[in-house]
Amino acid sequence: MTVSTEPQTDPFALAKALSGQHLIDGQFVAAASGRAFDVVNPATGAVIGQAADGDAADVDRAVAAAARAQAEWKKMPARQRGKLVAQCGARLAEHVDELGKLIALETGKALRTESRVEASVLADMFVFFGGLGSELKGETVPFNPNMMTVTAREPVGVVGAIIPWNVPLLLMAMKIAPALVAGNTVVVKSAEEAPLTVLRVMQIMNEILPPGCANILSGFGPECGGPLVAHPKIAKVSFTGSVETGRIVARAAADRLIPATLELGGKSPMIIMGDADLDRAVEGAITGMRFTRQGQSCTASSRIYVHESVHDAFVEKVRARVDAMKMGDPLDEATDIGTIISPQQLEKVQGFVEAGKKAGATCITCSKMPEDAALSKGLFLQPVIFTDVSPDAAPAKEEVFGPVVCIFKFSDYEDVLAKANDSEYGLAATIWTSDLKTALDATHRLEAGFVQVNQNLVVQPNLSYGGVKSSGLGKEASLESMLEHFTHKKTIIFNMG
Ligand code: NAI
Ligand code: MG
Repeated sequence: MTVSTEPQTDPFALAKALSGQHLIDGQFVAAASGRAFDVVNPATGAVIGQAADGDAADVDRAVAAAARAQAEWKKMPARQRGKLVAQCGARLAEHVDELGKLIALETGKALRTESRVEASVLADMFVFFGGLGSELKGETVPFNPNMMTVTAREPVGVVGAIIPWNVPLLLMAMKIAPALVAGNTVVVKSAEEAPLTVLRVMQIMNEILPPGCANILSGFGPECGGPLVAHPKIAKVSFTGSVETGRIVARAAADRLIPATLELGGKSPMIIMGDADLDRAVEGAITGMRFTRQGQSCTASSRIYVHESVHDAFVEKVRARVDAMKMGDPLDEATDIGTIISPQQLEKVQGFVEAGKKAGATCITCSKMPEDAALSKGLFLQPVIFTDVSPDAAPAKEEVFGPVVCIFKFSDYEDVLAKANDSEYGLAATIWTSDLKTALDATHRLEAGFVQVNQNLVVQPNLSYGGVKSSGLGKEASLESMLEHFTHKKTIIFNMG
């Protein structure tokens, strides 16, 4: 079945129409094996469509198409490539409502607070990178006055991108927009839980881009993602997901001696000093913890350290804010909080809640479960605030990827800084204070890739984003990241005798 690229209003019909297909070489195609798997609405448990179940045969086909297309795409002037990518952004901006509804249906993220917002940031990422074509500049090198020595930024070739389900539109955009502008072509492997909205994005892009430049496969990790990384014509891999899978991808890339960018997990600390503007810090905790996304964020501020002088007031304010949030149908404009992505993920998060209770933490449960009978099979989970929690308890140390936050009390600045840094992760960190000296000191000493004072902004175009320690390798979302990860520098010497 084909569906028009005009904006659609019914996400259920759109999910059905997109079912069972990859997008390779500008064409919708079923899996070579003929297999497909169900896509489920986590708010009701109902099957909303199918996704093509990709394997090595589909990978071969997509990579071959991408390699053919790259031979031409790289010859196009860089600004022209950028213009086409920016055009994709403009076209996607007309689809914000449609894409928002479809991603809400597929992932259970609330439309008003999360899904529509993600769709609009997706469009913005394309517009941002589309403007950077003319920045793919080289240098002249003072090597020998009788020769001319220059460097050129060249594309790496075909990029394999593997994305997760939590913010699939944004995370895909952060990989493919810069890759394409730099003259590469891409093969994306979507997450098994959220294959349809990213497929729709690719369909819209393929109206503008030459066939084969942007391809997408759905399928499972080892069966479809594995062969993608291992394919001899993939020149670079860009992965976002768990640390465990990141290690598998990095090993496979090492075997092939190709570069891998890895954006992995986090356990990001927030430090709230006694002199902080408490209401601002509360809002920062709400955004930082991504309560409206059920905490399913690699950047989630899931360890909050609060000075003892304001700890109790802070906990009460956060509790009241989260408690007032409405959990319900993700497609309902009144809903603040939707569902967890899958039964496995729900069970995993519930395990963390039990572990926290067993470790003796005080457990504050917020918000109300929806009462609507139509949602009785929905994967809803009440947000949890743990206080008086041991730093060794599982939810205090490990990435929960759910609406579970640990709030700790501290009295000494040096001590809290050491605790904040005592983690295998280093994605993001924030400090809240009105004292400039403390803020400066903390920003230098916090071990994280993204450090903010008195705010908790999410990923923004033009700001390098990516972690240290087990949180990953390499940056995304900025000009420098495009140059560093999607081009190689060629040295060229002219010696005309
Ligand atoms: P995952 O890391 O296993 O999956 C992410 C992507 O990698 C998916 O597209 C998946 O199909 C693919 N993949 C899985 N195994 C692969 C393999 N052997 N080779 C190539 N690709 C492979 O994450 P999953 O299973 O969805 O969630 C597990 C946990 O990971 C979550 O509970 C959460 O803690 C964390 N997570 C972190 C994310 C982040 O943004 N940092 C995003 C999603 C999950
Ligand atoms: Mg997995």
